[in-house]
Amino acid sequence: MVLESNGGYIGDYMGGKKTCKPANITHIAIPTTAGTGSEATDVTIITNTTTDVKMMIKHPAFMSTVAIVDPYLTCSAPLPVIAATGVDALCHAIEAFLSKKAHPMTHTLARSAITHIISSLQRSYDDPHDLDAKESMCIGSLQAGMAFSNASVTLVHGMSRPVGALFHVPHGIFNAMLLPAVLDFSKEDCVEQLAELLPLFMPDRKTDSLSVEARADMMIQQVKELCRYLQIPTLRGWWLGGARRGV
Ligand SMILES: [Fe+2]
Repeated sequence: MVLESNGGYIGDYMGGKKTCKPANITHIAIPTTAGTGSEATDVTIITNTTTDVKMMIKHPAFMSTVAIVDPYLTCSAPLPVIAATGVDALCHAIEAFLSKKAHPMTHTLARSAITHIISSLQRSYDDPHDLDAKESMCIGSLQAGMAFSNASVTLVHGMSRPVGALFHVPHGIFNAMLLPAVLDFSKEDCVEQLAELLPLFMPDRKTDSLSVEARADMMIQQVKELCRYLQIPTLRGWWLGGARRGV
């Protein structure tokens, strides 16, 4: 749509090299997963299959005109897709919260997104026809998309784009594999923010008396347990299982 209105090659718009005006065509986004949040972001990812580069293009012209978010449309997604896209949405929310570009509005969206995702992702995975869980996941995914579109993402997405393109790993799966490892790696620099998120992961447990470090560790542990429950491979398992050999 942007090319139809502006012409040229899609890669020309990467990194703001070429400016563009909004498309003349109405762009209606209808997500079938929960999800990328793409229905609410100005980000477009297109893989150049010749160079194995995932081109990231961020411009308001790529934003949809209308988003139709219907939880029913997410019911037929296969289990691995529910798991990977669900953790991708969680990544969006956590990364938007941790981002140096975050601000009070994105914090509010990110917190709400995490609450929705944590309360419904396992139910959505266990019963793909649980419409209540699907609705909550759709809201969480949408809010996470709005949060990261305004606050950006961090190291998980920064790494998953080039490595995912190189090893041909789907976006959601690679983000889901990276999230626990990146949180471990980043903990020292964002320990207070991680601790602040813990109550969203464990709403029924009082953790105020614990140290900041202990709360941050527990939050990361919650993410790891969720990934295990959803049968997301660990980075180590994926690597030893064939990626290193190019299988
Ligand atoms: Fe993503």
